[in-house]
Amino acid sequence: MSPNPEQRKQTVEAAIREISHIATLPEITVRIIELVEDPRSTAQDLHKVISQDPALCSRILKVVNSSFYGLPGQIGSINRAIVMLGLNAVKNIAIAASLVKLFRGGELTQGFSAKMLWDHCSAVAAGCKIVNDRLRLGLGDEAYLAGLIHDIGLVVEMQFDRNRLVEVLKRTGLDAKGEPANEMREIEDDVFGANHQDFGAALCDKWRFPRPFALVTGYHHRPLETPAESKTLVSTVYLADRLAGRLGVGFRGDLVSLDCDPQVLEVLGLNASDVQPIQEAMEEAVKTAVNLAA
Ligand SMILES: [Fe+2]
Ligand SMILES: [Fe+2]
Repeated sequence: MSPNPEQRKQTVEAAIREISHIATLPEITVRIIELVEDPRSTAQDLHKVISQDPALCSRILKVVNSSFYGLPGQIGSINRAIVMLGLNAVKNIAIAASLVKLFRGGELTQGFSAKMLWDHCSAVAAGCKIVNDRLRLGLGDEAYLAGLIHDIGLVVEMQFDRNRLVEVLKRTGLDAKGEPANEMREIEDDVFGANHQDFGAALCDKWRFPRPFALVTGYHHRPLETPAESKTLVSTVYLADRLAGRLGVGFRGDLVSLDCDPQVLEVLGLNASDVQPIQEAMEEAVKTAVNLAA
């Protein structure tokens, strides 16, 4: 049975309260997000924050030097990376690099582990970047980060009540390839009283992420209901989510069908025949992205 809006809200609030001790972002991520939101922030500010964490620095340089960004030559410093990619791109790479720590925990059932979920999110992030670049949507680096966090609600569920998530996954009926037999969100509603869209949006709010990210997590399975200002971003995630599923990378248990609603494609100015070339372009980038995120 589907919970009413008030029950849903209470369930989500309780979960976020419950996990607050583990779901706090690393201090450094919080500071990077503050920088993202502050239009006065400079390359030096970012460099100062990042340079306090050597592991983060090397992770960023690994990403920056990957074929994903197609930069000429080797980038040896964060300052140089900022010059080559821009402040926003490096900020988002830094956020991504620090988010990976939340995706921990072994295999819960066939077709679901924290690692599979992270692989999926990395693939969707890479896909979002490609869709944005190819269609010149002008979403900038927001597209990448949106893809990365769209299913973060599943992390909330995993940390809040692992047993209930296992029950959800069992009832969803994932086969050996991770394909679900049943609609996972309906089962989440039944077992948790809310689904990963609700939990994800609440976590983004708690983290004080910019508003579009709460909308991405909250509406990625129903982009046509998204408030107008973020409809393009959420539709981009919707498309990349399905394409990542078709490429067979990581978790896909929350998508019974990988077909795209023509109305959502229309938001992106696409028709069905435009999707295949995007999927092909995504294939290579996804492999690189997933290897990097490992
Ligand atoms: Fe999802
Ligand atoms: Fe997804």
